[in-house]
Amino acid sequence: MEITNDIKYVGVNDHKIDLFESQYVVPRGMALNSYVILDDKILVMDSVGGDFDQEWIDNILKATDGREPDYFMVQHMEPDHSKNITTFMDRFQKAVIISSARAFTFMKQFYHNDYPDRRIVIKEGDTLPLGRHTLHFIQAQMVHWPEVIMTYDDCDKVLFAADGFGKFGANDTPDEEWESEAARYYFGIVGKYGRNVQNVLKKAAGLDIKVICSLHGPVLKEDLGHYIDLYDKWSSYTPEKEGVVINYTSVYGNTRKAVEILAARLKELGCKEVIVNDLARTDIAKCVADAFRYSKMVIATTTYMNDIFPYMRDFLFHLAERGYTNRTVGVIENGTWAPAAAKTMTSILGCCKCINYTDTTVTIRSALDDDTAADLEELAKELTE
Ligand code: FEO
Repeated sequence: MEITNDIKYVGVNDHKIDLFESQYVVPRGMALNSYVILDDKILVMDSVGGDFDQEWIDNILKATDGREPDYFMVQHMEPDHSKNITTFMDRFQKAVIISSARAFTFMKQFYHNDYPDRRIVIKEGDTLPLGRHTLHFIQAQMVHWPEVIMTYDDCDKVLFAADGFGKFGANDTPDEEWESEAARYYFGIVGKYGRNVQNVLKKAAGLDIKVICSLHGPVLKEDLGHYIDLYDKWSSYTPEKEGVVINYTSVYGNTRKAVEILAARLKELGCKEVIVNDLARTDIAKCVADAFRYSKMVIATTTYMNDIFPYMRDFLFHLAERGYTNRTVGVIENGTWAPAAAKTMTSILGCCKCINYTDTTVTIRSALDDDTAADLEELAKELTE
């Protein structure tokens, strides 16, 4: 696939994978992207993971028409990209490997070789001329690991963004919406490092970018402002959309009934978007992404073993570790003899800053009654004020 006259796609689509990073469901597979820049010198940008060594090497040879690459750029050492570094270096004996100092440390740890006689160590601000193209290296620490370097090609105005602007899903699955799978990917994998993403966006703002080449997902060529704006919102913890997401668990259906009543009332009161997720039956990465994408959230669960229902505990842990902040939150608890779920939930989120809790907390004693119905009405009003 041609990206520009000089830049070719040589990545692969992984449809054998079940769980990305052994935790994220990827029903449409995963794209492991790699690129070749053809100039006086030939550079290959990143390896691919999985068992795609031969397919990847074949793609490179086809793109270069059999010419041997001069350079091999490693932007990110996570094994979904780095696994075939050794394959490349063994196959193309004249190639020089380029990466950050930290990446070479990780390379030695993972693959027991850091190529001391065949390498160039680069850092922020360094450049590499290939002929018409000059590459500019941008430190992108913690987007998503500490060694990450992004690369800007000043000839074709391409930003090679490492994991940035990536998404779940293979590139040969047609008509898949970018936003939801990119959000699930971002908040699952990179979301903890919003400040670092903001730092990179500030650097990128000074560049004339016409194409974004991520290591996952499609090459972005159109409407780049839309994608950059989303990344700016996501990484600054600004709600992307006005709306209420209700993340709940229910053991026997009584908490679910409360959630259904609340969702219906929110819609009647004019809330345009109400998203309801049963945490026991919905992909956790989708629930986490929804919590960050929307302006308001309701959490509803039961007291369970003197704690809270495990799916809710796990979900709240994901929010807390990713720095959930700057949201309005309403709480519904259910308990038959000693309801304490509200206290436990807010305590887990205690480390999250700028959470505006609603005045109304709904306590259900086993099943709905007139008091809980009135409290749900109050909560709905507060959330739509
Ligand atoms: Fe796609 Fe952080 O690896």
